[in-house]
Amino acid sequence: MTNHNRIKSVAIIGAGAAGAVTAAAFAAENFFERIQVFERKGSAGGTWIYDPSPSSGLPIIPGSLPPDLDPPLRIPNDLPKVTSPSEQERFAETPIYSSLTTNVPAVAMSFSDLPFAYGPFVPHHIPRQYLESYFSHHKTDSLLSLNTTVEDVSVIKAGNGQKERWKLTLRKRDLVRQVDVWWEDEFDAVIFANGHYSVPFVPRVKGLGEYIEKYPGRVVHSKIYRTPLLWKDKRVLVIGNSASGHDVTAELISTAQLPVYQSRRSASRWDGSEPPPGIAWKPIVKEYLSSGRIIFDDDTYLDGIDTVIYCTGYLASFPFWNAKNNGREIWDYSRNKLVKNYLHTFFQDFSTLAVVGIPRVLTFRSFEYQAIALARLFAGRESVKLPPVEEQEKWEKEREVQRKKDGKKYHDIEWDTGETLRWLDDLYRIAGLPLLTGEGRVPPVLGEEVRWAIEHLRKYPEPGTGDDGNGKEKEEESLSSGGGWVLVDRGLQKDLLSFI
Ligand SMILES: Cc1cc2nc3c(=O)[nH]c(=O)nc-3n(C[C@H](O)[C@H](O)[C@H](O)COP(=O)(O)OP(=O)(O)OC[C@H]3O[C@@H](n4cnc5c(N)ncnc54)[C@H](O)[C@@H]3O)c2cc1C
Ligand SMILES: NC(=O)c1ccc[n+]([C@@H]2O[C@H](COP(=O)([O-])OP(=O)(O)OC[C@H]3O[C@@H](n4cnc5c(N)ncnc54)[C@H](OP(=O)(O)O)[C@@H]3O)[C@@H](O)[C@H]2O)c1
Repeated sequence: MTNHNRIKSVAIIGAGAAGAVTAAAFAAENFFERIQVFERKGSAGGTWIYDPSPSSGLPIIPGSLPPDLDPPLRIPNDLPKVTSPSEQERFAETPIYSSLTTNVPAVAMSFSDLPFAYGPFVPHHIPRQYLESYFSHHKTDSLLSLNTTVEDVSVIKAGNGQKERWKLTLRKRDLVRQVDVWWEDEFDAVIFANGHYSVPFVPRVKGLGEYIEKYPGRVVHSKIYRTPLLWKDKRVLVIGNSASGHDVTAELISTAQLPVYQSRRSASRWDGSEPPPGIAWKPIVKEYLSSGRIIFDDDTYLDGIDTVIYCTGYLASFPFWNAKNNGREIWDYSRNKLVKNYLHTFFQDFSTLAVVGIPRVLTFRSFEYQAIALARLFAGRESVKLPPVEEQEKWEKEREVQRKKDGKKYHDIEWDTGETLRWLDDLYRIAGLPLLTGEGRVPPVLGEEVRWAIEHLRKYPEPGTGDDGNGKEKEEESLSSGGGWVLVDRGLQKDLLSFI
């Protein structure tokens, strides 16, 4: 990298796990003159910040996508400016519920250079405290700009002897004066670490829109779920069968009217051939009738349901991406993927833009490999150059075709097939060799202890009496605060980390 092209300033959007490790990796290079982490919430921690009383007014519009649900704010003219506080819903609250514990063993979930306080599966305040400490541990806490939302990211194209740069429009909520302070700033590079579990997804179902209108408050999303106490003696239908659907259904057994109904599109890793006591399984919903009746795919129906809890996940949202200025969208909602990306991290057409944290894979630990590869590459250290754009395009195209053929999601990375290790290895190689003088971080090895924990420690008990369908299961010890954990032999058909 010539001195002219040198990246001196870096903006990181988000102070969750991805932002925490990205800030640490960039700071460790001791190369960049300015690193700033913009976080819209009042502290670091991202997903792991527990918001005890979430807004009950989250819009539920079946089939609606983030560009409509979470549109950009109108930016005032002539910045800097002070305005009255924006009231627009930004989905900044997190979905953490009171009893939530982690579902990945601590030794594999934590970053390699700082252990969790304890493990293997910990209550949600542990990762939250951990992430705040991680900033101070690396003295990157001073890089944080809190209560500051990035509202616009616009490229300043290279030309006239100038390199590619980025203009950010920022909005800080001044909590003392109760105003929004707006300004602009420029950076040589931008890393998106903004997460993708903020904007809830509710599928389009016949009659659901009318049902929501006719029965206000009856349909909610798991994002606002905190405790089963709200549904004491109620007749509840839960939609979805991944981590949220599983946990919410299981918790409701203690308070709601039994059985708690759970609508499943597909079986999860934890399901046996029969539902656990207190739960009745239903297929997907076919139609909602104005009488309140809910009809399922097998033509069975339920009447008198008090609440429907959609545990149907989230969609990535980038309201700050100025597609008009930047010449293209950043996310393709029809394919549910980043546009023009390479290795879920880099962009083919913007060499100074990157994203950490998108794939569904090991979380914190994978972000570490992404962050280190990026820091080494952007610092122009011993990193290995990315392949030519044509090769990156080929990678994207081939992945899209293959995943479609396999009926799998583009950004899901599997453990069982060895794909996770291959992906981490790609990032590991891009990061290159350490410097003899020691600047910067090198990616950690993914050692036997970590791999063993991933493959053998599970939070969720396997179904039935101990047989997981193929491998054996034995109750080993009960020590996590949210319940027991189990040690199992491998051998399940669904990917081991499909629930992450
Ligand atoms: C309910 C739930 C439970 C989970 N449990 C586990 C688990 O047990 N184990 C596990 O490994 N993973 C779990 N995950 C996945 C979890 O999301 C990851 O562990 C990890 O926390 C993601 O980190 P992130 O930094 O990518 O995103 P986030 O944690 O979402 O952080 C993104 C940050 O960016 C900020 N931000 C967004 N937009 C802007 C903007 N425009 N300007 C400024 N700031 C912005 C957000 O406020 C947020 O703080 C869970 C997720 C959910 C939703
Ligand atoms: N630590 C914990 O214990 C914990 C607890 C809760 C959540 N989480 C995390 O939170 C994140 C989000 O999990 P999540 O469970 O909320 O979402 P999710 O994993 O995305 O699961 C969405 C669920 O909705 C179903 N679904 C999606 N579209 C549907 C449709 N059109 N019709 C019917 N069903 C549909 C899916 O079915 P299919 O399976 O058939 O696709 C799936 O069961 C994950 O990272 C997860 O690990 C962790």
